[in-house]
Amino acid sequence: MSHYTVVSMPGDGIGKIVLPEAERVLGKAGFPADYIHADIGWDFWRREGNPLPERTVKLLEQHKLGLFGAITSKPKWDADAELDPQLKGTGLVYYSPIVTMRQKFDLDLCVRPIRSFPGNPLNFIRKKLDGGFEEPVVDAVIFRQGTEGSYAGVEWTNPPQNVREAFTTHRKFKTFASVKGEDLAISTRIVTREATRRVIREAFEYAKRFGYKSVTVAEKPNVLRETSGMFEEEARAIAKEYPGIALRSVNIDAIMMWLTKNPEEYGVFVCENLFGDILSDGFAGLVGGLGFACSGNIGREYAVFEPTHGSAPKYEKLSPSIVNPIAMILSGAMLCDHVGEKEKGERIRNAVAEVVREGKVRTYDMLRVPGGPKVFGHGACTTQQMTDAILAKM
Ligand code: NAI
Ligand code: MG
Repeated sequence: MSHYTVVSMPGDGIGKIVLPEAERVLGKAGFPADYIHADIGWDFWRREGNPLPERTVKLLEQHKLGLFGAITSKPKWDADAELDPQLKGTGLVYYSPIVTMRQKFDLDLCVRPIRSFPGNPLNFIRKKLDGGFEEPVVDAVIFRQGTEGSYAGVEWTNPPQNVREAFTTHRKFKTFASVKGEDLAISTRIVTREATRRVIREAFEYAKRFGYKSVTVAEKPNVLRETSGMFEEEARAIAKEYPGIALRSVNIDAIMMWLTKNPEEYGVFVCENLFGDILSDGFAGLVGGLGFACSGNIGREYAVFEPTHGSAPKYEKLSPSIVNPIAMILSGAMLCDHVGEKEKGERIRNAVAEVVREGKVRTYDMLRVPGGPKVFGHGACTTQQMTDAILAKM
């Protein structure tokens, strides 16, 4: 049996709280691993001017597998203001370390399963015409391209002259040509054919392997004619190789509406980076929200698993901790699947399912009470008690 070394990157805020919980569960599942701590996040931006320090990059290069909690990212004016005084004015620019990590390690598939656990009081329900309610089973997986698109990072406020000139060659730029430098901001959406093909093919392969009937491209080719157009074109070509799986194409805005009406009709999705970010948060709301949304950033050589929630800084200092560790724990289960330890991943998911179904132990989010120190009075459990309940089912 293999033994793994996992680079453990708790990051900021509640990342530091939930990551150790996932390690506890992985241990109980018998996942054979050592965890090496690595620094990432806002503190390292402030103190060192780099939220993804080189020593962390080296550890990932060496071990190739990571678990990541969450980071705090702030807009550029805060990023500058919070730098240590001796680093201020040195020309440092803050980039989100998770976005950088995806690009540096070519973690080009961002895979986000969205599955409802029976018994979760947060599951999507729908009013029936003849009275009463129904609770459709949601089982979708989003394949989001993770390294390019609108998050490629190619953007300017007050673009340099040669960039302006390049844009001027496009006839649609005429409207903006007279806008003064500081009043003009440009963010690009860059899509390449090879990365597009890979994410679409992986989506179809996944659909084939797990018996999904359709792959839906969630783009906007009628408006974003070039970038969404390339997704559409490549999806049509690749779909021909998968005769049993229907290719559906629904505009991203329309899909946000359909998923709140009949989410059960969709299986695998594929889309660009920003659209996938939005779609996966939208879908997560139907199966319990951020406390349940797990993800994997998977490249050809490296892979990092993380909950999709952020650092929720307001809950960092609460003791005992109230946040839901399930999203992080399910991300750990994805790590097991990824390295071929599928039965361990399944063991973890079954234990989570059992705890949710039983309904005896629930974090505050599952009880729909506002977060804060008073949640225990409403019957909420602590973060650690939720993990303990999951461990007890294993
Ligand atoms: P957030 O995801 O940190 O929190 C939003 C709200 O969701 C929280 O206030 C809380 O009510 C709830 N929530 C999140 N995780 C939860 C959990 N495990 N259990 C129970 N409730 C949970 O998003 P927010 O507040 O927009 O951002 C906070 C910071 O996190 C920002 O600096 C943001 O940039 C960063 N962020 C980082 C991400 C990452 O590391 N991948 C992703 C999203 C945001
Ligand atoms: Mg997001």
